[in-house]
Amino acid sequence: MTEEARAPILEMRGMSKHFGGLQALKGVDLSLYAGELLAIVGDNGAGKSTLIKILTGVYAANEGTIHLRGQQVHIPNRRASIELGIEAVYQNLALVDYLTAPQNVYLGNEIKRSVLGIPVLDNGGMRRRAATLLKDRLGISLGDIDQYAYNLSGGQRQAVAIGRALIQETVKILILDEPTAALGPEETRRMLEVVHRLKGKEMGLIMISHQLEDVFELADRIMVLRNGRLSGVRTTAKTSRQEILGLIVGAISDGDGDVGSAGTRPGAPVSP
Ligand SMILES: Nc1ncnc2c1ncn2[C@@H]1O[C@H](COP(=O)(O)OP(=O)(O)OP(=O)(O)O)[C@@H](O)[C@H]1O
Ligand SMILES: [Mg+2]
Repeated sequence: MTEEARAPILEMRGMSKHFGGLQALKGVDLSLYAGELLAIVGDNGAGKSTLIKILTGVYAANEGTIHLRGQQVHIPNRRASIELGIEAVYQNLALVDYLTAPQNVYLGNEIKRSVLGIPVLDNGGMRRRAATLLKDRLGISLGDIDQYAYNLSGGQRQAVAIGRALIQETVKILILDEPTAALGPEETRRMLEVVHRLKGKEMGLIMISHQLEDVFELADRIMVLRNGRLSGVRTTAKTSRQEILGLIVGAISDGDGDVGSAGTRPGAPVSP
């Protein structure tokens, strides 16, 4: 593997965030490599969503730096994060119930064609492209693609929301906040397959989840937050549920900050 391939696409260093007197994040580091899925786990209120919202420009950090492909970036708002190729799909995502799946996928990014010099919506084109995206890239079939989102199941809605993120062709980092939280067993299985298909060479995936089963199935590395601090980072293949649970509840601690070596990829140089 070349040095370049080993360099993280995303590095967050020393991220801190307080809300008034409440310290939601304290000096948290995060590295993400191209092609990997990094899971972020931790108890309610551990700071997972806050960390992600800093990355998507929803919150401004009080301290810390963010580097993308080695370059320091500032993410003052949502638009800046999208322009940097960062997309997030949240639980209870905002699909518009009385639009179809293709209309939801292209909402705000409609494809237009010209009729006698007048731009009109290319509904056929959006329909075809959305169907191909959902089927070929995500492996999801909706049955009738023209039905309202209102009629879609939780898993189908989630897939449409991911499709919507992926039409931004520049997306390099995709964040999934609890993608299976509201799904039944069969839909969860299908969603895990969707996420599995997304794991590729280019994109880095971050998945927040309370479901350790899902995490152990999909994640390459697992990052544990506890009370706003980094409790530990582990390579999935080299850890156990018990160890991760210990990190979540604080029974295991990485002590004096020695999370770097445990958190690096196999074969990667140990950070100083
Ligand atoms: N906008 C806000 N204003 C005030 N406090 C906030 C705000 N957002 C988050 N917090 C607080 O920051 C802490 C971390 O919250 P966060 O949402 O990041 O937790 P989480 O790890 O995502 O939890 P969960 O698993 O329940 O989603 C919590 O104590 C929360 O109450
Ligand atoms: Mg959260």
